[in-house]
Amino acid sequence: MGSNPTLSAILIPGADTIIKKARQVPLVLAGFGHVGKAFFGILQGKDESLRKRYGLALKLQAILKTDGGFISDSGITPEDFPDRPGQNTARSPLWKPGQTIESVLRTVKPGVFVECTPSNIQTGEPGLGHLRAALKAGWHVVTANKGPLAVDFKGLRGLARRNHLALKYGAAAAAALPTLDVGLYSLAGAEIQAIEGILNGTTNYILTRLGEGTAYEEALKEAQAKGIAEHNPALDVEGWDTAVKLLLIANSILGLDLTLQDIKVEGITRISPELLERTKQEGKALKLFGRMSYAAGRWKAEVSPAAIDRSHPLFGVSGTNKGITFLTDTMGSVTVTGGKSDPRGAAAALLKDIIHIFAPLP
Ligand SMILES: NC(=O)c1ccc[n+]([C@@H]2O[C@H](COP(=O)([O-])OP(=O)(O)OC[C@H]3O[C@@H](n4cnc5c(N)ncnc54)[C@H](OP(=O)(O)O)[C@@H]3O)[C@@H](O)[C@H]2O)c1
Repeated sequence: MGSNPTLSAILIPGADTIIKKARQVPLVLAGFGHVGKAFFGILQGKDESLRKRYGLALKLQAILKTDGGFISDSGITPEDFPDRPGQNTARSPLWKPGQTIESVLRTVKPGVFVECTPSNIQTGEPGLGHLRAALKAGWHVVTANKGPLAVDFKGLRGLARRNHLALKYGAAAAAALPTLDVGLYSLAGAEIQAIEGILNGTTNYILTRLGEGTAYEEALKEAQAKGIAEHNPALDVEGWDTAVKLLLIANSILGLDLTLQDIKVEGITRISPELLERTKQEGKALKLFGRMSYAAGRWKAEVSPAAIDRSHPLFGVSGTNKGITFLTDTMGSVTVTGGKSDPRGAAAALLKDIIHIFAPLP
């Protein structure tokens, strides 16, 4: 992770001094698939700007896969991989077969544990075990994996708080679309009366392509080729990925204590060609929504598809983009859109959460 003196001289006079003083933060990454690799790429590309803008020197000391890990005290760089990062693991001098998270957490000075293994919303594993081990060993956690949070949101938050550690999960709650940041920071002081979101890029992409006449299987394959579909795409199309994101948003912003059993979930698998045709004829668009509504003294949480017309603030959210609308008492209706689903966006959301741990907003 070398610095570029020419660039630093151009951008900020005296920036080299700032670079030398940057705070060293050890990182351990679990999972080296689409998101893990994108995170690794972003770390390399932004090393210098992170030092200058935030005074942070992020040092990736371990990358864990299922069958072992890459380990380096001085920080892992692309040069440590003779082939493309993650390919032919055994050819990397840093590869240690059978390396476990426990041994890594014991030997590396605590910093931030970055969780990017597949989401399993039934058991939470392997991420749940990773997060518990990391928090018990004194590591801050940022996670793109929503499985552990779906299974034990309350327990993990409690563990982090008791140990005075950060547990950040913006990358699991719609990633590059800033749902939690807007709800918690920008809308502070406002009463949130309802929330409505298109929170899953895969289903929104499939619905957009179906509306354009593409067959369902083809549209799903396209989403998989983009690296945005879940390891198990049933999580996306049956609505459960949206449900977990809604749970994270509701529990964090509304202070609720929802579990997945509290959310009524319907995905997009039962949408008929007739419904698609009718929606198109009426000039409407089909979207999969996660919704929180308040009536008769209680919150209702549900995930379901709905046809909306042009007047709806989320009508224009198409393809892999996402969007969320908050209805508030004092700030009216606030909508954020964009944050398209892709592994790089998810990786960027992980980085953003790390920055906020060490360089909080003023
Ligand atoms: N893809 C996206 O756009 C996106 C967006 C937001 C959030 N997410 C979330 O981010 C996470 C990662 O997604 P992805 O698309 O990168 O998944 P992926 O491509 O399937 O990669 C998963 C990685 O996890 C590794 N892994 C599995 N079990 C492990 C274990 N026990 N210990 C260590 N490593 C293990 C796999 O290792 P091997 O290589 O050894 O099999 C693989 O490298 C998921 O939880 C997903 O829900 C993804």
